[in-house]
Amino acid sequence: MKKTLLLISSLAIMTIGLAANADAGPESRCKGCHTFNQGGKHKTGPNLFAIVGKKAGSTDFKKYGKSLKNADWVWDEDNLKAWVCDSKKAIKELTGDDHAKTKMGKQKKCGDKAEAVVAFLKGLK
Ligand code: HEC
Repeated sequence: MKKTLLLISSLAIMTIGLAANADAGPESRCKGCHTFNQGGKHKTGPNLFAIVGKKAGSTDFKKYGKSLKNADWVWDEDNLKAWVCDSKKAIKELTGDDHAKTKMGKQKKCGDKAEAVVAFLKGLK
C-alpha cells in the first residue's frame, strides 16, 4: 500500500515537472511584462500581438520612452533579434543616436535564442 502511494505521488510530481517544462517557451522571459494575444492589455511593456512588420512605438501603450515614441523603423526579424539580445545597444543603433535610451532592460536572448524568440513573435498574427 505504501509503495503504491509512493509510486502515485512520484508520478504526480513528474507530471507537474513535465507540464512546467512544456510551458517554458522562448517567450517565457517576456511574459512578465508583455501580453501576446490580439487586444491583450499592456503591462509594464506594450502588447506584442503582430509586432513583426509593425512600426516601432505604434501601439496605444501610454508609457513608451522618448526613443520608441518617436521611432521611425518597422520591426523586422533582424532588428528584433538585436532588440531581444541587447535593447540598450539596439536602441542606439536603431535611432542613430548614441544617447538614446529604452525602458526595456537587455534580455540577453542572443544568437539561437533570439531566433527562437523571433520565430515565436512571427507566429503572433
Ligand atoms: C521587465 C519588463 C520587460 C521584459 C522582461 C521584456 N520587455 Fe519588452 N518592453 C518593455 C518595456 C517597458 C517596453 C517599452 C520600452 C520603451 O518605451 O523604451 C518594451 C518594448 C518592447 C518592444 C517594442 C514594442 C513596440 O511597440 O515598438 C518589443 C518588440 C519588446 N519589448 C519585446 C520583448 C521580448 C520579445 C521580450 C522577451 C525576450 C521582452 N520584450 C521582455 C518591458 C519588458
